[in-house]
Amino acid sequence: MRRSLVAGNWKMNGSRQAAEHLLRGLVSGLGQGRNGLDIVICPPSVFLPMTERLLAGSELISGAQNVYCESSGAFTGELSAGMLAEFSVRYVIIGHSERRNLFGETDALVAAKFRALQSAAVIPILCVGETWEQRRQGLAEKIVGDQLKAVIGGLTEAELATAVVAYEPVWAIGTGQTATPAQAQQMHEFIRAVLAEENPQAADCTRILYGGSVNAGNAAELFAQPDIDGGLVGGASLQAEEYIRICDSVS
Ligand code: PGA
Repeated sequence: MRRSLVAGNWKMNGSRQAAEHLLRGLVSGLGQGRNGLDIVICPPSVFLPMTERLLAGSELISGAQNVYCESSGAFTGELSAGMLAEFSVRYVIIGHSERRNLFGETDALVAAKFRALQSAAVIPILCVGETWEQRRQGLAEKIVGDQLKAVIGGLTEAELATAVVAYEPVWAIGTGQTATPAQAQQMHEFIRAVLAEENPQAADCTRILYGGSVNAGNAAELFAQPDIDGGLVGGASLQAEEYIRICDSVS
């Protein structure tokens, strides 16, 4: 049985005061946790110390939005997996389409980040997804499969089983145009099949999240699909009540 997971990706939003307000709202609504569900919050990194402090004693889990692949050295502006782990970060988003497209991150860099996280015992949330044009041309599975294979080759069964994959169609991110539950399920099933080519036992355990305009109105139907194990939520994770309702949509 896979444990469900909902992760909130705040992106570059908020202020110190707004982040504190949101964290307090989340702790009061979700702090006791929910049965069978891991709830992760990924604020901008500068708010991680505050997040660690405010989440202490609650069931909520800290995550981060980025990491560098080296453990230390002359990498101005970057953070290592070990540093994040010291601030109670247990999950890190990598390969997000915004990082691939705006910051030129390649599959090779994403793969290196994935390994750096696993060696620091931090769980990667590996994002994959196609653009609308790629889908229109019938290339969606090819693109997603290639993004996945660039990272998962050579992983042990345990490494594959603990990792998290997030299917985020680029055309659905921040657009209000969610993939239909059927479209999402079809791609999730494909992703699990690609994972199974690497290791069938592990593929059954790997959690696959859907991301892209998830909100309290569409979450339940998406999360009810057999291969959708939760969500990676952007905009809708910035309001405590909305995020709580999304978490409550996991059955
Ligand atoms: P969105 O973002 O929920 O605002 O579409 C999702 C994401 O980019 O992770």
